[in-house]
This record gives sequence, structure tokens and C-alpha cells, in this order.
Amino acid sequence: MSAFETGTRMNQPDVIEVSSVTTVLGGVVIHRHLDLRVHAGEVLAIIGGSGSGKTTLLRLMLGLEVPSEGEVRLFGQVLGRCEMQDLERVRHRWGVLFQQGALFSALTVFQNVALPLRELKTVPRELIPQLVMLKLQQVGLKEADAAKMPSELSGGMIKRVSLARALILDPQVLFLDEPTAGLDPASSKQFVSLVQALRREMNLTVVMVTHDVDTLFAVADRVAVLADQRLVAVGPLSEVVDIPHPFIHNFFLGHREQCMEENIRSYRETLGREQPARVPGKPTPLAA
Ligand SMILES: Nc1ncnc2c1ncn2[C@@H]1O[C@H](COP(=O)(O)OP(=O)(O)OP(=O)(O)O)[C@@H](O)[C@H]1O
Ligand SMILES: [Mg+2]
Repeated sequence: MSAFETGTRMNQPDVIEVSSVTTVLGGVVIHRHLDLRVHAGEVLAIIGGSGSGKTTLLRLMLGLEVPSEGEVRLFGQVLGRCEMQDLERVRHRWGVLFQQGALFSALTVFQNVALPLRELKTVPRELIPQLVMLKLQQVGLKEADAAKMPSELSGGMIKRVSLARALILDPQVLFLDEPTAGLDPASSKQFVSLVQALRREMNLTVVMVTHDVDTLFAVADRVAVLADQRLVAVGPLSEVVDIPHPFIHNFFLGHREQCMEENIRSYRETLGREQPARVPGKPTPLAA
């Protein structure tokens, strides 16, 4: 079985480096010898079947899970091995939108978004209302939404509030776990263009798990495919789509045309969006 990885960029250090990672949870091997680099400024999408270990891979990148073998570096720091002080410094530099949304149901929208600022005490208290309102506005919510409880929000609004909370510390890296799951196609499309716009404005690096081909098509610079406990392919969508693996074949069934580079480009142009920077580098075969 072949695996592919795009070439390393010479100018910028990689934001995340997953090196030879094996993960065992509850006595079960989830990942075997994963190698993955996330380049600064790219949107890397992770796809794979249910239970293939996508969320676990994000949790490893966040230091919430420790690999059984190998190491994960975030901004050059080895997670699990660095000093508490260094880890705290790195932790301020990422935001996460978890798969389950995870808004606190007893807190208002305002309180949910303000939480990281209150916990980390990085800005004076009196500035918090202004920062929260700015962030709500940035994700397309109204001032009046700030007083609402999560139970009063639509699915799309919950995603936006979760995104505002993930972005409140102005992170450099944004982790999104199934950000469009449960949204109707129109809300899903709106959410994706919001992520695109924020990415450009904030110069974000984005790592996103998704099951949705349209989301991949609209936003991903590269795709990493998890199957058989391994990364069976890593590269631009237009190249990954042709890799002969049963999961890839089924995942893109009926979508091959859509994933061609020309089509991706013209689709993004018709949406009137700036095309995200293409990460240079041709795929080179790796041993499986
Ligand atoms: N803390 C844990 N202890 C034991 N097993 C776990 C733990 N967390 C996850 N797993 C197992 O690891 C495997 C991968 O789980 P993970 O949540 O990473 O999958 P996923 O690819 O994100 O799936 P989905 O698409 O359904 O979200 C699953 O079999 C799951 O049961
Ligand atoms: Mg998951």
C-alpha cells in the first residue's frame, strides 16, 4: 500500500511535527508509526472512517493524549516532555472546536466565549466585554446573541459561538473536529466561508477533521487519510483522490471530477474568495 507526503518547505519551520507515533488506548493499537507535518498557514484536513483515530490524532497534537511511541512537536516543543511553563506558552497559541461542540449549557454565550480569557487572565478584566463582542461580531453573531443560553441557539449558531471561543485568544493554530457535522448544506457552506475568511484575516494554520467532501473541496490545501491504523496518504486533494486504497475510493465515489485541481480553482473563484495559498511540493512516495 502506498502512502504519499508532500515535500518539506525550506523556508518556514513546520508548526506541528508528528514523528513515528504509535498510539495504544485500552490495550488497542489505534495508530502505528504515523508521520505527519503541518505547514504554517495551510489548512490540513484529516479524513478516515469512524473510529479510525482522527480525534485521537488531534488530541495527540494538543497534548491531551500521549503517544505510546514516537513524539509530537508543536512549535518545536515536544508535548509531554517540555516544562509546564513552556507548555502553557504553547497552549495560548491554539484554539479548538471539539467534535461535541462543548459549550457550557449553564453559561450564556458571552460567558462561554469569555471563559478562556477569565481562566488565563491574559488581559485586564475590563477589556473582556469588548474583546468578546468583537469576536462574536467576527464570527457573524449579533450583540443580542451574547445574552442567550446555548439551548436558545441553532446548530449553526452553536458552531459560531464555539468558533468565537476557540479564537478568543487570537491563536495561530485552529483545530476543528467535524466543524460542519449536523449542519444543513447552506449553514455548512456559510461556516466554511467563515473559516476561510478568518484564516486569511488571522493568518491561521488550520487542522480540520471532516467527513464532508464539499468542505474538503472548499477549504483544504492538503488531506491526510487515516486507515488501517496508518496514514495511507498525505497530499493535495487532486492527487490523494487517485490513490488506490479502498477507503479513498469509497470516500470520493462520485466526487473525482470535483476534486481536480482546475475544478477546485474555478469553484473557489466563483465563490469570489481569494484562493488559499497552495502549499508547494510534489508528493513523493513513502513506504507504507
Ligand atoms: N480514552 C480511550 N480509551 C480507550 N479507547 C479509546 C479512547 N479514546 C478513543 N478510543 C478508541 O480509539 C478509537 C479511535 O477513536 P477516535 O475518537 O479517535 O475515532 P474517530 O476517527 O475520531 O471517529 P469518529 O469519526 O466516529 O469521530 C475508537 O475505537 C475508540 O473507541
Ligand atoms: Mg472523532
